Amino acid sequence: MEIRRTKIVDAFKKTSYGEPINVKGWVRTKRGNKSVNFIALNDGSTINSIQIVADVDKFDENILKSITTGACISVNGRLVESLGGGQSVEIQADEIEIYGTADDTYPLQKKGHSLEYLRDIAHLRPRTNLFGAVLRIRHNMAIAIHKYFHEKGFFYFHSPIITASDCEGAGQMFQVTTQNLYNLKKDENGNIRYDDDFFGKQTSLTVSGQLEGELAATALGAIYTFGPTFRAENSNTPRHLAEFWMIEPEVAFIDLQDLMDLEEDFIKYCVKWALDNCMDDLEFLNKLIDNGLIERLKAVVNTEFVRLPYTEGVKILEDAIKAGHKFEFPVYWGCDLASEHERYLVEEHFKKPVIMINYPKEIKAFYMKENEDKKTVQGTDVLFPQIGEIIGGSVREENYDKLLKRIDELKIPMKDMWWYLDTRKYGTCPHGGFGLGFERLMLFVTGMQNIRDVIPFPRTPKTANF
Ligand code: 4AD
Ligand code: MG
Repeated sequence: MEIRRTKIVDAFKKTSYGEPINVKGWVRTKRGNKSVNFIALNDGSTINSIQIVADVDKFDENILKSITTGACISVNGRLVESLGGGQSVEIQADEIEIYGTADDTYPLQKKGHSLEYLRDIAHLRPRTNLFGAVLRIRHNMAIAIHKYFHEKGFFYFHSPIITASDCEGAGQMFQVTTQNLYNLKKDENGNIRYDDDFFGKQTSLTVSGQLEGELAATALGAIYTFGPTFRAENSNTPRHLAEFWMIEPEVAFIDLQDLMDLEEDFIKYCVKWALDNCMDDLEFLNKLIDNGLIERLKAVVNTEFVRLPYTEGVKILEDAIKAGHKFEFPVYWGCDLASEHERYLVEEHFKKPVIMINYPKEIKAFYMKENEDKKTVQGTDVLFPQIGEIIGGSVREENYDKLLKRIDELKIPMKDMWWYLDTRKYGTCPHGGFGLGFERLMLFVTGMQNIRDVIPFPRTPKTANF
């Protein structure tokens, strides 16, 4: 009789000892002696591997020999209470079927590979305990995000991936074309002609879904996007990817205060979700990667974030310099704060997350609402311990004339912006939103140090493997 497969996560919850059971998975380790083999089997449903006990005289010698690290097997047996410490149950094997062997070229034979090496074998690294934990948490964070916004009455809105506009105006876009790059059509001035290109114009991969998100928010009231975004910035840092996922809520009728409340509430919800739903994986990461992790997550859930105007932040940093603190980059009113400055404020000065607001308009994007001082805009960055900037957002300039003036000043091509300006032309309203970098959230929640290790297949300058 065929026994239906039980996932290992569910097997651990059972107490029906003696019951026939089938589990399938990949062999993590095998050890044993002349009379009995112990196989640690993992099927990805949990960080915990189940112990399979195989009496040597019950099995063909060749079968036991081919059960090596990395092999995939199916085990029929009986659930028994585990006498050793650690796990609650194990399986006394009756029959073992081998689905796939793994010979001694299998790259994950030994434990303790470096993270750099694992990036080179990113096609196999999900089979390690570490990446299993990271990927299960990644799934859980995505679910938490959808659940949060759904419960709050936000609608999931699908902004396009291919676009003709540069939301951040930073010119960091990857072009999308079907033109023959060896034979580009050019006009008399030597400029590339796009009229014959697939879309009949120059198009790129989106850097942000915000502009389209604003169209939706000014119709549906509150929306969020959650999708891949692309930045061709040559930043080789542990916190930048060329392809990353972003969550961008956009809400009508909110002001700066509401926006900050939403940012704080949302992040706390996600972190709490991890604590409530991913404890096995977090405990593993806490042991292996960062033994302050769980404490830090709990602290964020229970702390009120600091709300700090940029001008005050600069003053704190200037005072720190006067008191002898050394930064690599200079600090002055008007500078774009570097990660070292943000981390000083968060990790050393306040020792908690900081929402920085009211930035000089020169260092922020064209769409941010100007304050009455005409020098600053209602931008917000949420700064986190270990990470630096995790969220960037703002109240939007809803006044048609002011927005147009800013677009002019920054020489943003108007022909690409008419549809965006229409939101301000017809029934404009106060509104705002933010973008959370999904992988930055993942860095925080997992304690991993490098953003390449919290996304399955990282894309960074000079690397696009798998
Ligand atoms: O601050 P950014 O550039 O803001 C925007 O794109 C706005 N349009 C968002 C909005 O208001 N709707 O990016 C938002 C967040 C950053 O705070 C950071 O967490 C993440 O996206 N991010 C990156 N994450 C990984 N790699 C990169 N290269 C990133 N660039 C931004
Ligand atoms: Mg930003």
